[in-house]
Amino acid sequence: MKDMVEVAVNAAREAGKILKENLGRPLEIDFKGEINLVTDVDRMSEEIIVEAIRDEYPDHQILAEEGKGQESPSSYKWIIDPLDGTTNYAHGYPCFCVSIALEKGQDIMFGVIYNPVLEELFTAEKGKGAWLNGRDIQISSADRLTHSMLATGFPYDIRESENNNLIHFKNFMMRAQAIRRPGSAALDLCYVAMGRFDGFWELKLSPWDVAAGSLIVREAGGMVTDFKGGNFDIYSKEILASNGNIHHEMVQVLRTGLS
Ligand code: IPD
Ligand code: CA
Ligand code: CA
Repeated sequence: MKDMVEVAVNAAREAGKILKENLGRPLEIDFKGEINLVTDVDRMSEEIIVEAIRDEYPDHQILAEEGKGQESPSSYKWIIDPLDGTTNYAHGYPCFCVSIALEKGQDIMFGVIYNPVLEELFTAEKGKGAWLNGRDIQISSADRLTHSMLATGFPYDIRESENNNLIHFKNFMMRAQAIRRPGSAALDLCYVAMGRFDGFWELKLSPWDVAAGSLIVREAGGMVTDFKGGNFDIYSKEILASNGNIHHEMVQVLRTGLS
């Protein structure tokens, strides 16, 4: 596993360098939807990561957001978000990252998330712990929602669907100390893992947004479930992550918005 983690870390650093170097230059932007962008830099980053993995492990499956992945019968599946925070990136707002995870069977074996602006590399290995630039990280100790800072985000179909998180946002706004909407779900999860945030919830995310980050939270001592407090699945549409202490209160708030 060590070699695979190394491949992921090197690829994330290399891709992150490209993101940083191209930040602020005019971009080629395509629209996947009215407010869902993809840039030439998303695609460049994906190419770098996919090639690095394919060079070492040509038979492995690769699930990559911008479509350069590959299917295969292998039990190893790499899950890649080459640029999480594309809208931020397109506006030159420096909050974005690269996210890479390895899934084997039902398990995420490791996750790597790199923020090239702050040069923060978050890593976790199943059963071994979570680290920021090689140092152990741990979730916060906040024990009440009213003392907690939370993060969330909104789905790209916010204008078309009523299931768009606005009700939960309003409910949490009245109960938490503060809420942030940074625009990178993968970084939001890392920040729960290292205690900058106490909790995070979002709906309609994709596996590449949450595969690495959910493991990083768990390995840092946090809790990751669906909105009801049940099993979390990276292919499902709900994620609730917290330091554990405030999880029950968060489930209660989400319940009021579901009924
Ligand atoms: C998005 C970000 C954002 C979240 C969106 C995601 P992208 O990923 O993680 O925080 O609210 O729903 O799709 O499109 O920038 O890779
Ligand atoms: Ca993403
Ligand atoms: Ca992306």
